[in-house]
Amino acid sequence: MSVQADIVERVAFDVEAVRRDFPILAREVHGKPLVFFDSAASAQKPRQVLEAERRIYEHEYANVHRGIHYLSQICTDRMETAREKVRAFLNAASAREIVFTRNTTESINLVAASWGRHFLKEGDEVVISEMEHHSNIIPWQFLRDEKGILLRVAPVGDDGEFLLNEFAEMLNERTRLVAITHMSNVLGTVVPVRDVVRMAHQAGAKVLLDGAQAVTHIPVDVRDLDCDFYAFSGHKLYGPSGIGVLYAKEALLDAMPPYMGGGEMIRSVTFEAAEWADLPYKFEAGTPAIAQAVGLGAAIDYVTGLGLHAIGAHESDLLAYANQRLASIDGLKLIGTAPGKASVLSFTMSCAHPHDIGTLVDRAGIAIRVGHHCAQPLMDRLGVAATARASFGLYNTRAEIDVLTEALEGVREFFG
Ligand code: ALA
Repeated sequence: MSVQADIVERVAFDVEAVRRDFPILAREVHGKPLVFFDSAASAQKPRQVLEAERRIYEHEYANVHRGIHYLSQICTDRMETAREKVRAFLNAASAREIVFTRNTTESINLVAASWGRHFLKEGDEVVISEMEHHSNIIPWQFLRDEKGILLRVAPVGDDGEFLLNEFAEMLNERTRLVAITHMSNVLGTVVPVRDVVRMAHQAGAKVLLDGAQAVTHIPVDVRDLDCDFYAFSGHKLYGPSGIGVLYAKEALLDAMPPYMGGGEMIRSVTFEAAEWADLPYKFEAGTPAIAQAVGLGAAIDYVTGLGLHAIGAHESDLLAYANQRLASIDGLKLIGTAPGKASVLSFTMSCAHPHDIGTLVDRAGIAIRVGHHCAQPLMDRLGVAATARASFGLYNTRAEIDVLTEALEGVREFFG
């Protein structure tokens, strides 16, 4: 983006106006104003997304791609418009490269079950990293057990940094796929994915990026990154749950067999054989999440209207402020301090278990996540059983971080 456009976006970002778009932020929890610091798990929804879904159900709803009737045609059109919005959001070359799924997990499982099962054989290697979510570990373990592939794990440093040199040493002529997170849901680490893609391609491997966390904070251009697969969920991007996206290069999708069979994914069927539908429908068996896809389109309009650069800048300011405020709390240790990290803040306190921290701050109306965050191997690597995690979204404020700081001071006093 031009410097001028960037400045316009930043100046235009008005967090109080943004907050008014999110009805749920007006509510109280335990008699206190809600402070929602759990957007990395699932973000709240703006009125624009809620209205888009409501409009569909109240005025336009019918099944898509099947009927010739008026409502079916409208819904088909709405859904394909949403697909085009996703295409533009990722800067993919064609809407044929955008497959709607339920979520990031399903997108990764689709790649493993279709591309992986079809193209990987015993002895092939898949490289993941120590900071993967279970969604980007288990599907490859299924393939390891089924096909005899080897799973290699790239290490992270003690501060949560992705170790590019150590990663490079894992690549060899047997590496067929690098499946790596774009941004850690526990540490906030942003992986240098451009370098990862370049190095993996030099080794002849494909690259899948788990973008579940990254898409809400960082502009993503799949053609510029040159990744082969990119997966993300609607519900973390201020859109509905039940809708996710798999981007894949068209040539790959063409070569991949469908992994789920049913209606809509076929061109013709007899009892003897079937032919598959064109892309992307070959991978969309069954009635899709119609209203949710339209809601995702509205969410994309919403975040692109605010500007991903402006959102990122706002969240970076919150992260810097939170780092400074939380550093003043005795016995609090930040987990994940890699340079350039995004706005996910994990921590432990010497006086209290993360579950006790979560319970006490909840009484102050603050929602944080505690536990292993679906990343148990990372917890083992870091030598902790669990962490508390505050994650910031576009609607959070410095004042809310002051409320969290005060509540954590209260935890320290309570447990002495
Ligand atoms: N992956 C989501 C999280 O990090 C659920 O909380």
